[in-house]
Amino acid sequence: MSRGYVSHGRDANSNIAPRKIGSSASRLMDNILKRHKDVNLTQREKDTVRLWIDSGAPYPATYAALGTGMVPFRPDKDVFKRLCLACHAPRDEKKPKWTTGFKTHADLLVNLTHPERSLILRAPLARSAGGLGLCGKKLTFDTTESPDYQKLLNGVRTIKQWLDTARRFDMDGFRPNKHYVREMRRYGILPPPQDGADETIDVYATDRAYWRSFWYVP
Ligand code: HEC
Repeated sequence: MSRGYVSHGRDANSNIAPRKIGSSASRLMDNILKRHKDVNLTQREKDTVRLWIDSGAPYPATYAALGTGMVPFRPDKDVFKRLCLACHAPRDEKKPKWTTGFKTHADLLVNLTHPERSLILRAPLARSAGGLGLCGKKLTFDTTESPDYQKLLNGVRTIKQWLDTARRFDMDGFRPNKHYVREMRRYGILPPPQDGADETIDVYATDRAYWRSFWYVP
């Protein structure tokens, strides 16, 4: 995913043209079929990768999870500009996405279980303070008490709190995205909303009922 080999459609809600997500739109599959570097897979191996892309790569195995549990982390703008930009400038000036100034995929820059272990905090922190000291001696944080370090850390903590409230598909109390709920109601798979009821939705059971609704029963 971090190298863009798999097209998962995770960031789109609907109305995607045919064959724009999944194995038919994934570079990984292209490379396999075009025998990249003369590598030739057996039919079974090709099928394994293809089925993995279409079932495993979206990971939650239900489209109910699309658009939920995303982590819109942005480092503190002022701190980033003052302390990081000189060495981690976005690679493409036309699309100045801050994440492109790093080798690491954006999702791996932050650690939402243990915010203080986030790579984005440990890389510029001195080794003597428990960091990795990767960013040169002059500009690294000497201590975790630096107010700028604290600002970056608070940014990660805020996202963690946000996720703890919003919930991901694999967390207790997860709620599917509203489009999924609306459409499943429209198809009659989910019952209409009941006032005041604390509704929990088993999305996997709902998915199964949805697919079953297409079964031909003479
Ligand atoms: C003086 C230049 C410099 C500054 C300023 C700097 N870095 Fe770095 N940074 C580096 C170098 C050099 C490396 C190690 C080489 C590499 O892996 O790219 C690195 C590595 C990293 C990495 C891991 C590698 C990667 O690209 O994913 C992260 C994350 C990082 N720095 C974050 C920061 C943050 C956040 C700041 C600001 C608080 C910062 N750096 C400031 C030079 C700098």
